[in-house]
Amino acid sequence: MTRRVGFATRLGAIAAAVGSAVGLGNIWRFPYEAGVNGGGAFILVYIGCILVMGIPVILSEFIIGRSTHSNMKAALRQLSPGKKYYLFTYICILGSFIVIGFYSVVCGWIIEYLYQAALGQLSGHSPQEYNEMFTSLVANPWRCVGWTVLFLVLNFMVMSRGIEKGIERVSRTMMPLLFVILIIFCINSLLMPGASKGLKFLFYPDFSALTMRGVLDAFGQAFLSLSIGISCLVTYSSYFKDDTSLTKDAVIVAVLDTLVAILSGVMIFPAVFSFGVEPTAGPRLIFEVLPGIFQQMTGGYVWALLFFLLVFFASLTSTISLSEIPITFLMEERKLSRPHAIGWVALITLVLATVAALSFNVLDDIKLWGKNIFDMMDYAASNIFMLLGGLFTAVYVGWILDRKIVHDQLTNGGRLKGMMEPYLIFCLRYVAPVSIIFIFLYLTGII
Ligand code: PHE
Repeated sequence: MTRRVGFATRLGAIAAAVGSAVGLGNIWRFPYEAGVNGGGAFILVYIGCILVMGIPVILSEFIIGRSTHSNMKAALRQLSPGKKYYLFTYICILGSFIVIGFYSVVCGWIIEYLYQAALGQLSGHSPQEYNEMFTSLVANPWRCVGWTVLFLVLNFMVMSRGIEKGIERVSRTMMPLLFVILIIFCINSLLMPGASKGLKFLFYPDFSALTMRGVLDAFGQAFLSLSIGISCLVTYSSYFKDDTSLTKDAVIVAVLDTLVAILSGVMIFPAVFSFGVEPTAGPRLIFEVLPGIFQQMTGGYVWALLFFLLVFFASLTSTISLSEIPITFLMEERKLSRPHAIGWVALITLVLATVAALSFNVLDDIKLWGKNIFDMMDYAASNIFMLLGGLFTAVYVGWILDRKIVHDQLTNGGRLKGMMEPYLIFCLRYVAPVSIIFIFLYLTGII
């Protein structure tokens, strides 16, 4: 018998889904993507995407997972016997490896900043020095690879000792704390001299600043942030109880995730303008801005430590859910024991993450369309893999899956009203596929 990760309570399952969704995608990637894409208009498209594609695709993954209580491959086989839809699982596996690959490099940066914060070396510098601090970190292959590997070792140690549940429990306390801390930081940022400029950047939709590439980025960001498109939530929802309201849970995940992203934006952008940092700085943005925020707060030392610790835990619950995709697959489809599956996944991840960590230094000559390997992984994961995965999921549940199953899952066999059903089906059948296909065709120059 292979052992699957189980959740003792309903709260356990939903907390795990929130734990998967809330992570570096919200705190690190959302502000940098918003910055690169001109702010307000990007955020508007992002929120629109959550409503018409994000929530429907979360629900679709929940429907697939809970109706079969299986991993993606077994689920698709069971739901569509004799058909080849299950081949899509391989895209999910590939996508999840790519996400963990670049994501763990950023987790490594978080540990470095946690370490620097603990040493008290994060304060007393100018914005220029914070810029140089980050540059010298990523230029140093040993440091970069070292922290990345340390993070992965921690991640897989947690998984191999079967203490994910312990981590879930810890993060159930940590998540609300992260939320409260973000609010405190937001208030602090709003009192900064550049606050109004930051808020205007964030909330005033200047559509002339948004390109079609930006729209694609907003879609990709929404999918990455919600953990959808690579079957992560299929695995988690396969443990949901049959009396859980899927709609309610999908909305909770989406709302909490979006709130954390917006709060991160409100924390970062007033400071960006106050310190004179370029909003288009990209992946380095929060690392240049955060130390400056902490240092001008009373008790900055403790705030910095606490913040990086919380972000570390938020990232860990995301990487655990990511690693679970290939691990469950190897266990249930290839009949590997859990330790073996973890070993293989750890090995592949280690190689990918090391390459990603080296792409800022030793391998920085390797570029495609001006992007280094890290940037390519970052881009491909969300803008290609997760979006295509989302497209498949939407089309599958909207057009192919038996409507009775959809109805049963939404209404828990007729016990709930399932008012979202027509909206869900409309979004899955038309809005999501048309938007995703349109943006791909437009950007590849076909239309
Ligand atoms: N949603 C996570 C984050 O925002 C990343 C993630 C993507 C986790 C896909 C699982 C699956 O940090």
